[in-house]
Amino acid sequence: MSETKKELKVPAIKEGTVIDHIPSRMTFKVIRILDLKEFKYPISVALNLKSKMMGNKGIIKVGSRFLTEDEVNKIAILAPNATVNIIKNYEVKEKINVKLPDEINNIIKCSNPDCITNNEQVKTHFQVINKSPLKVICRHCERVMEESDITLI
Ligand code: CTP
Ligand code: ZN
Repeated sequence: MSETKKELKVPAIKEGTVIDHIPSRMTFKVIRILDLKEFKYPISVALNLKSKMMGNKGIIKVGSRFLTEDEVNKIAILAPNATVNIIKNYEVKEKINVKLPDEINNIIKCSNPDCITNNEQVKTHFQVINKSPLKVICRHCERVMEESDITLI
């Protein structure tokens, strides 16, 4: 564990998923895009934890729940350096580095007010044109958006 003894610790989990190395300010957004609000599993959240790698990080621990590959990759839109740990019987069985998908569907908004997706019931669809720094293009209106323009639906 990277937290030192003096810091707040979130208890280890027996079974489930630990999403680690999330920028603190993105932690609740990650909960939102994963729809973690909607389900019944126990969730612990901690933010502003000290991290050698990032300075300041958030962690989400979800008991008895594993993520799909799509869900893991969605996390990369908000937290490109996040690590997803699969915990079984208290042990880290797998450590996955999130990977940006080539396309982002129905997760982020187009920043062009005239885009059809902002005016009709049309789902958003973006192509990732650069992964770091993140740059995407809207498939409907061709608006190019950078990380700072990106907002969740
Ligand atoms: N963890 C947990 N419950 C467990 C085992 C691990 O909540 N039963 C959490 C740890 O607190 C840590 C994360 O899962 O936040 C990854 O665990 P581990 O690989 O042991 O920690 P680190 O070596 O610090 O991970 P990394 O190298 O990815 O920073
Ligand atoms: Zn658009």
